[in-house]
Amino acid sequence: MITVFGSTNLDQIGTVSRLPQPGETVAGGTFSMAAGGKGANQALAARRAGAQVRHISGVGNDTFADLALDLLKADGVDLSAMKVVDGATGIAMIFVDSHGENVIAILPGANGAMTAEDADAALGDLPTGSIVMLQQEIPQAATERALDIAIANGLGTILNIAPFLDTTAALAPKASIVIANETEFELLSGRGVAELDAAMAEWAAAHDQAVIVTLGGDGAKAAFDSKLVHVPALPVKPVDTVGAGDTFCGYLAAGLDAGLDLEAAMRRAAVAASLACLKPGAQPAIPTKDEVAAHLG
Ligand code: RIB
Ligand code: NA
Repeated sequence: MITVFGSTNLDQIGTVSRLPQPGETVAGGTFSMAAGGKGANQALAARRAGAQVRHISGVGNDTFADLALDLLKADGVDLSAMKVVDGATGIAMIFVDSHGENVIAILPGANGAMTAEDADAALGDLPTGSIVMLQQEIPQAATERALDIAIANGLGTILNIAPFLDTTAALAPKASIVIANETEFELLSGRGVAELDAAMAEWAAAHDQAVIVTLGGDGAKAAFDSKLVHVPALPVKPVDTVGAGDTFCGYLAAGLDAGLDLEAAMRRAAVAASLACLKPGAQPAIPTKDEVAAHLG
């Protein structure tokens, strides 16, 4: 079983020909809303990958909450421990251009009300062998407590250090697996991309954990147990990459939960993440297990 303790957002998406610069107005394009938030996206990805998933998060008592939780509900993610706060559901304002590039601003709303006590209440009695999956879109004190409880109970922990915070470096070494994109890993390790392999190997050895760096069109690399592995992405022409990293994280967790080794779980996760770039929106674009299997060969 996988427990996600993290964010839920309703994404407000403007699809535009090009991204406006500060002070600039760009006219034209289309508007849509889609369920998002790194926690919720990862929960849905793990579920579509075939895992039993519990999503613990906060939403507001507004009309956006239902829209934000719709797909999770439809796919059978356990939402019984969700917290409803008096206020707004988290919102991500997203612009995507015709090359699939994006800019995102997050207005955390109810995500900001998640506390260490919520972690105590929700994570105290998880079954042996569970995996706890965390990101960084809720207050770091809540994420840290969740990590501490999971570790104290001997559970597997996956921390996606997105978005990168100034407290990330202190937290990251605790998890069994850290997942970052290239920029986040540079910030974490203080080493440039030219030294990526060496920096990953040294990080993994120094902290006795697996570190995974997602590389967009180049797939993903992992350093663990004195090994360095590299899995490919599918050659795709991205329409919208929002949620691709979350799809990777969710599929990775589900693969490990199903007993795959890290490299095999990464291989499937990288294919899933590639497919997630082919449709607009975060959650609507997350592929099913069968769609991923059809491309795995
Ligand atoms: O990782 C993608 C997610 O980041 C989006 O769904 C948006 O909600 C932002 O939190
Ligand atoms: Na997408």
